[in-house]
Amino acid sequence: MGHIVYPYYLLFISAISIFADILLKYIRKRKEWFIYKMSGQTALFQLKNVSKVFHTKDSEVRAVDDISLDIFPSEIFGIIGMSGAGKSTLVRTLNRLENVTSGQVIFDGQILGDLSSKELRAQRRSMAMIFQSFNLLTQKTVLANVMLPMKIAHVPHKEQKERALEMLKVVGLENKATAWPAQLSGGQRQRVAIARALAMNPKVLLCDEATSALDPKITEEILSLLKDINKKMNLTIVIITHEMSVVEKICDRVAIISEGRLAEIGSVKEIFTSPKTEAAKHLILPAEKELNPFDITDRRCIRIVFDGREASEPLIANLVEATGEKVNILCANTKSVGGVGFGQMIVELPSEDDAVERVLQYIREKGVNFHEVQLEEVKSV
Ligand SMILES: Nc1ncnc2c1ncn2[C@@H]1O[C@H](COP(=O)(O)OP(=O)(O)O)[C@@H](O)[C@H]1O
Ligand SMILES: [Mg+2]
Repeated sequence: MGHIVYPYYLLFISAISIFADILLKYIRKRKEWFIYKMSGQTALFQLKNVSKVFHTKDSEVRAVDDISLDIFPSEIFGIIGMSGAGKSTLVRTLNRLENVTSGQVIFDGQILGDLSSKELRAQRRSMAMIFQSFNLLTQKTVLANVMLPMKIAHVPHKEQKERALEMLKVVGLENKATAWPAQLSGGQRQRVAIARALAMNPKVLLCDEATSALDPKITEEILSLLKDINKKMNLTIVIITHEMSVVEKICDRVAIISEGRLAEIGSVKEIFTSPKTEAAKHLILPAEKELNPFDITDRRCIRIVFDGREASEPLIANLVEATGEKVNILCANTKSVGGVGFGQMIVELPSEDDAVERVLQYIREKGVNFHEVQLEEVKSV
């Protein structure tokens, strides 16, 4: 009589796989932390459960709500959110222009909340800031404006002037030293503000909507300048903006802030190609007004995501050529991020099932990332 051998090894294998699964979930959840640990870097800013509550006469506003994140040296870190999301308040906690209600901001290893006002003043010299309104002194020349922070810090006059001229050169305004702010364009004024911010050789440059008052072409120029400075001087830059295009253009990583909370954080590529939260989708996906009127469609639709491997234009053109099927692009939002193509497209498929299958087969063969979307989802992007 044979006896049943209980397959204990199966039990063992399933235990291991359950364990591996839990471990993977944990790693995924704490990805940021692992990247930080593995990179061996010390964060320049560490925010630990930072909250800021404003008490007004008859209400309280939780402008920043339990935000934890790290900003690493030499990175360009974006903080994006809609107006009123709490971005300015958050950035003001970074240099303690705003005291936190709870939590900690650690800059360069020091808890800002623990510093005396003298220590804080010293630390703030390493944290320069620029704004949407350039905040230049109108009664002072460009050169005097750039010299100002050094004057306040009692740097010898000769050194002030040399350094100021050097910084004006960095921003391409060496020939405007004797001009008055009123004689400059918006873009030039922001360049002066950048030169002034760099004067004290800061460790970080905080930019709060620094390009929001500028037209797109000047915005591009200022962003290129910031990227240049980041590379050449190894300067950490924090960019606060409500515009995704700004983040795409220069940021390495981005945090999405919604109603005071951290909705998502990750590399720009990651967030851009697969936004997970409503807040992120709202910022990244095309607005409803950009959609064609297609409410009447009862056809199947897919969302194609371009993650830098495929160019968007040839894919659709080649698809039509290869399959002989027509597809309708309902909306497209593709662009170049850091030199490679990214974005998404919502495509309406043909009406006949076999035609749909041919189209999907073609896209699958090309290894392009796509998924079928429900009409409700299409409408709400
Ligand atoms: N000093 C303050 N007193 C009261 N409420 C404030 C103050 N500063 C900001 N808030 C409120 O906090 C929220 C976030 O504001 P803010 O940080 O300026 O947002 P964002 O920069 O993203 O537009 C808003 O509801 C705003 O009205
Ligand atoms: Mg703001």
